[in-house]
Amino acid sequence: MLHETLYRGYERLLTGEVKKHGLPRHIAVIMDGNRRYADRVRIMRYYGHIYGARTTEQFLEWCWELGIKQATIYAFSTENFSRPETERAMIFELITKKLDELADDPRTHERRMKVLVIGEVHRLPSDLQDAIRRVEDATRSYDGNHLNIAIAYGGQREILDAVQDMAREVREGKLHADEIDETIVSRHLYTNGVAVPDVDLIIRTGGDIRTSNFLPWQANGSECAAYFCAPFWPEFRKIDFLRAIRVYQMRECEQKQSALIRTVNMLAACGSAEIDGVVGLFRGAKSRN
Ligand code: FPP
Repeated sequence: MLHETLYRGYERLLTGEVKKHGLPRHIAVIMDGNRRYADRVRIMRYYGHIYGARTTEQFLEWCWELGIKQATIYAFSTENFSRPETERAMIFELITKKLDELADDPRTHERRMKVLVIGEVHRLPSDLQDAIRRVEDATRSYDGNHLNIAIAYGGQREILDAVQDMAREVREGKLHADEIDETIVSRHLYTNGVAVPDVDLIIRTGGDIRTSNFLPWQANGSECAAYFCAPFWPEFRKIDFLRAIRVYQMRECEQKQSALIRTVNMLAACGSAEIDGVVGLFRGAKSRN
């Protein structure tokens, strides 16, 4: 009881703190540790995924509550295809159910939430492909919140498929090779015409410190902030989420400071007469942070 009261107090404190600074626009999450959680608390692994899906729902609520409009979740990687048949079938069934719930949930429509699935959808069972079509069709016209779900997704494969698409268009005369830039590549990723924007913060639970082929173009390309934490996904709490946002904010602040330092150094190197003013500006910004 005391623990719960302290937890709520700390959660309120952190919420107040993170709201004072700029928030990430796009958070991506690697939801790791469902099976290890199940093993630790001695329940069937199936329930580890069920509890994990519950955390996913809470995580999305936390994002929308704070006004973070883009979230991308890693539900099934191409590497996950090597899992035993029964486990794969169970995860696909769970994701199918969750997609159907999303399509029917009044909150999806009140929030005008657009759901987009990225990945090699053709490799998935037909029931799941149908559920993907249903939820994408039901939310296609929305532009409030954006939920991107990576299923049968691998980052290198995504880039490779984009390269092959562009090569085909060049061959057919629809695209000039020297026109290809970051925007054109983004448009050829798994997006159904709506590019998944750059990620500002990537979160991984379960203790591993790597990003496992997740959004290499959208996250690593933009050098986003990363938050790796020990809790398994089913035990990820709101305070972990808020701490992750604090890491993003600290990084933003460091980046602004180093940009200022670079500017000061550059002006000093140029021997500008305005150095004193710039140094004053820098000190002011530093004391505010
Ligand atoms: C990673 O834990 C989790 C998965 C592979 C499945 C995640 C899927 C969900 C939580 C459902 C998604 C919900 C929606 C809304 C589409 P793991 O199995 O790799 O666990 P481990 O690291 O302990 O082996």
